[in-house]
Amino acid sequence: MTGTKTGLVGHPVSHSKSPLIHGYWIRKYGLNGSYSLLDLSCEGLQSGIEKIKAEGFRGFNITVPHKVALLDLCDEVNALARAVGAVNTVTIENGRMSGTNTDVFGFIENIKSKSPTFDFKAGPAVVLGAGGAARAVVQGLLMEGVPEILLSNRTESKADTLIETASEPNKIKRLGWNSGEAGEAVSTANLLVNTTSLGMTGKPKLEIDLSSLNPRALVHDIVYAPLMTELLLRAQERGNPIVTGIGMLLHQARPAFSLWHGVMPDVTDELEAMVTQ
Ligand SMILES: NC(=O)c1ccc[n+]([C@@H]2O[C@H](COP(=O)([O-])OP(=O)(O)OC[C@H]3O[C@@H](n4cnc5c(N)ncnc54)[C@H](OP(=O)(O)O)[C@@H]3O)[C@@H](O)[C@H]2O)c1
Repeated sequence: MTGTKTGLVGHPVSHSKSPLIHGYWIRKYGLNGSYSLLDLSCEGLQSGIEKIKAEGFRGFNITVPHKVALLDLCDEVNALARAVGAVNTVTIENGRMSGTNTDVFGFIENIKSKSPTFDFKAGPAVVLGAGGAARAVVQGLLMEGVPEILLSNRTESKADTLIETASEPNKIKRLGWNSGEAGEAVSTANLLVNTTSLGMTGKPKLEIDLSSLNPRALVHDIVYAPLMTELLLRAQERGNPIVTGIGMLLHQARPAFSLWHGVMPDVTDELEAMVTQ
């Protein structure tokens, strides 16, 4: 392998669409580089990373289950990754690893590019889920000036921890999960976001009552397999604007590519079609 070596560290990684995305941009911009899958177990993470550094990699992305572990393994971690509590992109310079988080950018850019007139400041956001992705979503919404976030998660203690560790905890209120509170809260919502894995292929469906959903509320599902989740189909049927999740995956890859190759790549219709096939 020659050129700028990059890749994805995780376990498992074989399902990832990232090689397709980065490979497309490497070809499109005529660069000399590679993006490989680097499957490392938790036990083999530290030694695997040493090997990656020794092999001269320019950087790598991190996926489940290592995003939190990288906070301690990097030589420096920026404020954004600290606020999210997870590193998803590492750049290596003179053997030193710098960590950042591009999921926040991916989430926000996807909404901005698909729904350019959407006003984040116009009202509350209801966020379902409090896992790793939810942390990036909540941080992004706070950075965009959302006035209030109403957060609902099956394991309520995880929602509490997310709120306690968020940059503006006073703007976030926890709702019950089985109490139907989220269904009631959507009447005032400017935005409804699903960050749980419910609705994903092979997972149970997301149960939420949309009968009181504000007709102008934007509904966004970060689940992208299937592209049109049942939540999005139901919202679309009611006439609500919707944004699918694939754009978050595509946009989060852009700042990483830019850090490694010095080119900020575009998300094109051709690329979107390739990854949704
Ligand atoms: N579009 C993108 O670029 C993008 C990026 C990241 C993630 N995602 C998608 O987002 C989803 C979540 O990813 P993640 O990394 O945040 O995963 P995670 O950290 O494992 O969190 C999973 C979330 O789903 C909830 N959940 C799982 N099974 C549930 C069930 N049966 N009933 C109720 N809630 C349930 C969990 O609730 P508990 O806390 O109660 O377990 C938690 O809130 C996945 O589908 C992933 O593919 C998309």
